[in-house]
Amino acid sequence: MAAADTPVPTDPPVPELADRARACADRLRDADRVLLASHIDADGLTSAAIASTALARAGIDHEVVFEKQLDAASVAGIAAREYEVVLFTDFGSGQLDVIAEHEAAGAFTPVIADHHQPAEPDTEFHLNPLLEGLNGASELSGAGASYVLARALEAPADASSTDGSTDVPTDNRDLAALAVVGAVGDMQDTDGGLVGANEAIVADGVAAGVVEPRTDLDLYGRQTRPLPKLLEYASDVRIPGISNDAAGAVSFLSGLDLELKSEGEWRRWVDLDDDERRTLVSALIKRAVASGVPAARIDGLVGTSYTLVDEEPGTELRDVSEFSTLLNATARYERADVGLAVCLGDRDAALAEARSLLRNHRRNLSEGLQWVKTEGVTHADHLQWFDAGSRIRETIVGIVAGMAIGSPAVDRSKPVVAFAEKNATELKVSARGSHGLVRQGLDLSAVLREASQSVGGDGGGHDVAAGATIPSDRRDAFLAAADALVGEQLS
Ligand code: C5P
Ligand code: C5P
Ligand code: ZN
Repeated sequence: MAAADTPVPTDPPVPELADRARACADRLRDADRVLLASHIDADGLTSAAIASTALARAGIDHEVVFEKQLDAASVAGIAAREYEVVLFTDFGSGQLDVIAEHEAAGAFTPVIADHHQPAEPDTEFHLNPLLEGLNGASELSGAGASYVLARALEAPADASSTDGSTDVPTDNRDLAALAVVGAVGDMQDTDGGLVGANEAIVADGVAAGVVEPRTDLDLYGRQTRPLPKLLEYASDVRIPGISNDAAGAVSFLSGLDLELKSEGEWRRWVDLDDDERRTLVSALIKRAVASGVPAARIDGLVGTSYTLVDEEPGTELRDVSEFSTLLNATARYERADVGLAVCLGDRDAALAEARSLLRNHRRNLSEGLQWVKTEGVTHADHLQWFDAGSRIRETIVGIVAGMAIGSPAVDRSKPVVAFAEKNATELKVSARGSHGLVRQGLDLSAVLREASQSVGGDGGGHDVAAGATIPSDRRDAFLAAADALVGEQLS
């Protein structure tokens, strides 16, 4: 029994994964040095930050690298680094076929904390919600899997410190804040809040005093956007006369009994008190009802916001959703180092750099979405597609495809497949569906893997969102294969 003043070990956050997490943690502790490899998006960056912090706290020597994607070439590059153990976060499961070859050759032992659809064969140290019947697209992200691992790496509460230092936390629950950023960055909160294992992580974050969930207006930009922009850019809800209508948003706000400016500047959602927030939300709902917005979309106006209480109010870092966009703005532009530094606590040079990258990212998203709306999509029997060529960067074409799904340019009854030029000989493919289509049998991970492999490429991902790389001259053959596969799944 622990004495009253020694910390009592808390329960594992996701009991289903406890055994796998313990095995992975033990293997990492046994390693002399670990190479930590992660993915270049918000979830991958937060995964790396969580895993790196936990390794450091456990005294495990390691180095961090990022890869745009894991394929034969990048895994070979990792193997050439000659680390005894490689920890893959937010990818790895989908590339087990490639990884297994290097493992068999004795190049390294893989430890994987991921949430993507696993490829064959399996491996010994593998932490993935899908292996225990949990949903990898909605219940646990890569950062969540890394968090589960981090908790398993905590020093046992009764172990006495060997080097006498006392400033190393033995409890990794503070890392739940980053895990929530990763989950929201992967759009795991699409039904208004986090569910399943993610909810247990939120509870850890609340217990650790770092995360605060609350029922809130569910629009992007609560911390940083001036009120008119918050409403104007809320394109998912589409309230006539407000969404995509700068003058309409201002005129709607002016009709409310609200102080709209402070010292000449527009106030933001974060600047309003509870009464003012209620006034705005009820007026918005009333307006949506009067304009005939469908009830389901009106429900979407309210959801759960997750606030990182240690971050400064009115900054991108305070709201997990804005935080995740800031991270994508770094890693998707070959500056994962900047995003990682922000995750690890740099609030000076790295944050300033990230903010400047964010302006560029926002402009690219807006121009990309505009391009899709103007050009429109082409309809096949069971899917719709567009080929952006070099007009949309391949690292953000998936984000644009996801945003397009929420816009009138796209038919919600079919998945969207987007292409962008990757290099002179290859195309990047990104596919996005909806939860409704997934309930009808859609699995884009299987579609993209099979259709890309049938034309000499490779891909994978999640049922609702997946990606691939294919040879540029095989686009139409890929589309025909993908269309047929989606048709079979939805029949
Ligand atoms: O690589 P990774 O798993 O981290 O990325 C998940 C991708 O799936 C993200 O781009 C996210 O936007 C997308 N997604 C989606 N809709 C969901 C869940 C995830 O578009 N409901
Ligand atoms: O790149 P994109 O955002 O479209 O990726 C959607 C999902 O598919 C992500 O989870 C990503 O990790 C996965 N993906 C994959 N293999 C690829 C490309 C993307 O597993 N070749
Ligand atoms: Zn992820």
